[in-house]
Amino acid sequence: MTDVHGGNIYAVARELNCEPEEIVDFSASINPLGPSPRVWKAIVAACRLVTHYPDPSGWELRQALGRQWGIDPEQIVVGNGSMELIDVIPRALQLRRLVVVHPTFSEYERAMVRAGGSVVAIYAKRAQDYAIPIDHLVQLLDSKESKTLALDSVVLCNPNSPTGRVCSADEITHVAEVAARRRLWLVLDEAFADYCPEQSVLPQAASWPRVIVLRSLTKFYALPGLRVGYAVAARSVIRRLRTQVPPWSLNAIGQMAALAAVGDQAHAEKSVRFLVRERERFVSVLRAIPGCRVIPPSANYVFVELPRGWRATTVTEQLKRQGLLIRDCSSVPGASARAIRLAVRLPSENDRLVKALSAMLGNFNG
Ligand SMILES: Cc1ncc(COP(=O)(O)O)c(C=O)c1O
Repeated sequence: MTDVHGGNIYAVARELNCEPEEIVDFSASINPLGPSPRVWKAIVAACRLVTHYPDPSGWELRQALGRQWGIDPEQIVVGNGSMELIDVIPRALQLRRLVVVHPTFSEYERAMVRAGGSVVAIYAKRAQDYAIPIDHLVQLLDSKESKTLALDSVVLCNPNSPTGRVCSADEITHVAEVAARRRLWLVLDEAFADYCPEQSVLPQAASWPRVIVLRSLTKFYALPGLRVGYAVAARSVIRRLRTQVPPWSLNAIGQMAALAAVGDQAHAEKSVRFLVRERERFVSVLRAIPGCRVIPPSANYVFVELPRGWRATTVTEQLKRQGLLIRDCSSVPGASARAIRLAVRLPSENDRLVKALSAMLGNFNG
């Protein structure tokens, strides 16, 4: 079975007969500096809470997030990863027809289908380095076709995954205005926006009536195993989302770890500084591999097209044999058979990957 997502070090470890920690995982894009040191302490301290149910509404975490964004905590709902909220949104808002911009994160479409709806797709063009086609999108939302197609919602992932392309806050604001005028919902997935805060529309989007912003603590705060995410929207919308979130969906340790994570501003700043520097270096060494096309990144991963003659599936498989797990994007609608996504990891790990990749691609050319 092919994984729809990255990060399954367990399956690879079983296959290679090694420990999961021996795999260097470039397939899930997690802050390589790890969580704030405060998080480890919070996890240890939170162990005493396991004999109690967690706070069902994540009150303390929502207070902290409310303070962070300068918004009312009643405009926030927490979930078991932002994935739970992606799953809940179509049912809670009774969405039937969602516009997606491919290539993008596949779970919006799957959630729509689970809820009995469907998607209408438009495509970012390879020739434009997969820049999100805002004009095309706005044209569609604002057209007669929008009614014919019975569109009721649109999702944008900003920065987008797997391409790493980002829209400006002004562009997003424009889409939100058009969507509101057309009475369409706009779901804005900002799972990776901590890496480009100037492009985020939080906190202002909290007062936009038909917009839901999703945030994740998985990537930037490096808590993928704890599953913490949240949505920001108008109070009435949050109430609707809450009706569909199962009780106690966010466990006690996750709540305490998240609280510690968002409270450590110094670690957050260090993480951004590190990423910006290392990503630049990583991109320049990748670009030096003959025939590799590197799409301009904006988050903590890099979208790459392998040289002609290579297939993402083959390269992913060969790297896996060396304990290097990358994301094969060839099955992502709108991406080419040569597309891969690489997380930016620590310098020594990035060098190891580049060396393995250069050796493999060089062998072929030679
Ligand atoms: C763009 C995007 N949004 C949301 C998610 C879900 O993240 P989580 O449920 O861990 O918050 C992912 C996970 O890969 C993602 O790539």
